[in-house]
Amino acid sequence: MPGVQFNSPIKYNPLMHIELDQAIQLLQDDLVIAIPTETVYGLAALLSSESAIGSIFTLKNRPAKNPLIVHIADHSQAEPLMRTKPPFFDKLSDRYWPGPLTLVVPASDQVPSIVRAGLPTVGLRVPNHPLTRALLRDAGPLVAPSANISGRPSSTCPNHVENDFGENFPVLSGGSCDKGLESTILVFNNGKWELGRLGAIPREELESFLGYSLNTSSSEKPLCPGQHFQHYSPKAKLILSKAPFSEDVVLGFERREYPNAKRVFVIGPLGDPEAIARNLYHVLRQIDLEGIKEVHVDFDFDQEGVLRTVAERLEKAAHPYASS
Ligand code: TXA
Ligand code: MG
Repeated sequence: MPGVQFNSPIKYNPLMHIELDQAIQLLQDDLVIAIPTETVYGLAALLSSESAIGSIFTLKNRPAKNPLIVHIADHSQAEPLMRTKPPFFDKLSDRYWPGPLTLVVPASDQVPSIVRAGLPTVGLRVPNHPLTRALLRDAGPLVAPSANISGRPSSTCPNHVENDFGENFPVLSGGSCDKGLESTILVFNNGKWELGRLGAIPREELESFLGYSLNTSSSEKPLCPGQHFQHYSPKAKLILSKAPFSEDVVLGFERREYPNAKRVFVIGPLGDPEAIARNLYHVLRQIDLEGIKEVHVDFDFDQEGVLRTVAERLEKAAHPYASS
């Protein structure tokens, strides 16, 4: 893995890796499997299988008030799931699907209430991973939250899924995720698109595409219920810091000096924000695997583009119970 100085060989247990046809069979048997996407791995169930959807909440220990994104193969699978189509939906989806953009729109009655956590809306996205798109074309729409225990860092490779759900958990194995950060979520609200969650597509890029600045959630009134809950946190305590580091364990960047640091977890070079995004959850998970209790994060960087999302994830990871 580029720019990461620790040694963490990824060992795959061949037993847990399933092929496309087994994936379809397990889903049709009302079971849950893990699937690859370009952002993070998901825990998937058929939209039509309420029992498997219930199991997703149990497996993840996910609050029932947190709705699930519905993954679809293409536009044609979106139509029956929407009650009405908001303005600019086609332009956004033509430009960004398949890709890391989730669009929250009014839901039709084909979306079970458990998926929407009782809301009148549904989040839709077409993931950009060939295996999962083939699966979606054959099996139909799949609900899928990130494949991690609720509150913990997301999974960006099969090994992470195994760490959270056990080595016999069935994973459709599609390698390491390209983006390493969850999709950006736009919510159609009060007649315009608003930013429900920062994600792999930078905010600036969407604002220039839409031609207006995006309102974001307030902590009192989040656009995505998920923003209420703990997120992305390792067990280790993270301390965000712009000051020089001394005897600490540091999470920092390639080509920066951390004199006297006891240990440095290098997340990547600041000149390559995509590499940093890809490594983020891997490094957070590695810190826990090594049993480290406290890490000082070098928070002295320009928080623009993808690095704005990285910074937001680190803030949430450091302050697990803040609600903004
Ligand atoms: O990249 C991703 O989006 C990944 C991959 C697997 O596709 N999925 C993911 O799902 O991050 P999850 O469940 O970890 O996060 C979904 C977020 C939550 O914050 C949830 O509240 C929000 O989407 N969400 C889902 N449906 C919604 C709705 N109808 N209205 C508002 N927010 C919604
Ligand atoms: Mg998640």
